[in-house]
Amino acid sequence: MSEGDRSPALGGSPEPKSRITKWLIFVGAVVMLAGLLFGYDQGVIGGALSGIEKTFNPSTAVVEIITSWVTLGALFGALVAGTMAERLGRRMTVIWAAVLFTAGALIESLAPSTTVMVVGRLVVGFGVGIASLAAPLYAAEMAPTRLRGRFVSMYQLAITFGILFADIVDELLSSGTQWRIMLGISVVPGILLVLAMVPLPDSMVWYTKVGQLDKAANAIRKVRPDEDVGADLRDIRDSLSGAQASWREVFSSRWRAPLVLGVGLAIFQQFTGINAVIYYSDKIFAAAGFSTPQQQTAATTWCIGVVNVLATFIAVAYVDRLGRRPLIFAGLIGMGLSLLALSLSFRHLARIATASSPGTNNPSDAGVFTLVAMIVFIASFAFSLGPVVWTVINEIYPTAVRGRGVAIATAANWGAAWFVTRFFLTLVDWVGESGAFLIFAIVCAITYVFVWKLQPETKGRTLEQIQQIWTTKAAAHHKARS
Ligand code: BGC
Repeated sequence: MSEGDRSPALGGSPEPKSRITKWLIFVGAVVMLAGLLFGYDQGVIGGALSGIEKTFNPSTAVVEIITSWVTLGALFGALVAGTMAERLGRRMTVIWAAVLFTAGALIESLAPSTTVMVVGRLVVGFGVGIASLAAPLYAAEMAPTRLRGRFVSMYQLAITFGILFADIVDELLSSGTQWRIMLGISVVPGILLVLAMVPLPDSMVWYTKVGQLDKAANAIRKVRPDEDVGADLRDIRDSLSGAQASWREVFSSRWRAPLVLGVGLAIFQQFTGINAVIYYSDKIFAAAGFSTPQQQTAATTWCIGVVNVLATFIAVAYVDRLGRRPLIFAGLIGMGLSLLALSLSFRHLARIATASSPGTNNPSDAGVFTLVAMIVFIASFAFSLGPVVWTVINEIYPTAVRGRGVAIATAANWGAAWFVTRFFLTLVDWVGESGAFLIFAIVCAITYVFVWKLQPETKGRTLEQIQQIWTTKAAAHHKARS
């Protein structure tokens, strides 16, 4: 969310209704393309792995590195993206992210060895991380206030579409060495993203920050033609004046509660296992008895990809009506129970595998049970921790520390995602699928308690009211200690 936020719901003055201009549609297209690339680059590796393994015959550790280093690249990308967006502007930062996506996809698809492949994965990841900060920031600053939430949600929805698109490509191309095409396809949306971005102006907030007020006014006229340009510029200037907190201040005891909440949510979102399921779904389905690559990718497409997209719409519809806490609680219960079911089902499968001779090509009852549990898990995540965590991260920080707070939480999310994808197969070697899913289920329970204790309901509260919660808490804490 932008530092120049002026929604009535967020504590600013009421805003007139805004027309959707062609420029705004362009902004929407850019955001969707960036989300699509994020989801695609993340999802495609699941189906490409078996082909890569056939070509290079890598060890388990190298497979984990190929899978997870996009995330590591994204962590560093997110960390530098804040500075890039300030120095180069939001627009150039998104263009750089798109160039990196494209270059990385080319390196991956032409890789003659696993070392080059890992370099390509890092470059793609760097682009993903930069875009994960710059694209929603650009969208939030460009969109008229009343459309801001929808624009940022479109980004998360596009991520799930990207993952689904990757699943479909995986399913169509899952045989032989077509993994090179799978990884190379993202060159197309990468180039489209650069082309879509070129005619667009930078955000009015960035132009104002660097003193280019004429350009800021032009940007407002283009994307918000119904608004009072002078008033908009004044609001942006006012909101910027209090927005320069130092790194020290971000970590001060005054803002410790929102920092712990944001970073905690970002880490728990990953430690409940979502990306283990997304990245390794084919392997999980293989272990559940879906023996052919076609069966595995079909299960991944329909159980993971489509359900992930559809259930995200539930969150978009209900997050402002039911509130953040109820959605997270309901989602965590669904995720926890389905993870327990997965754990039991894999225990059962392990027993069958040791007791019986090789079976047919069809999944057993336990395999079908696994499928249902995976559907419940992904749906529960998609209407809760998926979109709601990003919503909360973007609304709990006071204006003065928001940029840096969101950057720290985003980097923590990528770090946790990297950790899970890097060590999931090692964990499975160590405690089996059953044990791994049991650990994720326990993390769901811990997350429930964490949210119960630390997360206030933010639905319908202005940012100032949310900020007030932390000030009151810090004052009470201080009083109790003195
Ligand atoms: C998470 C990603 C995850 C995606 C799945 C996002 O909210 O941050 O790590 O892969 O949801 O849809």
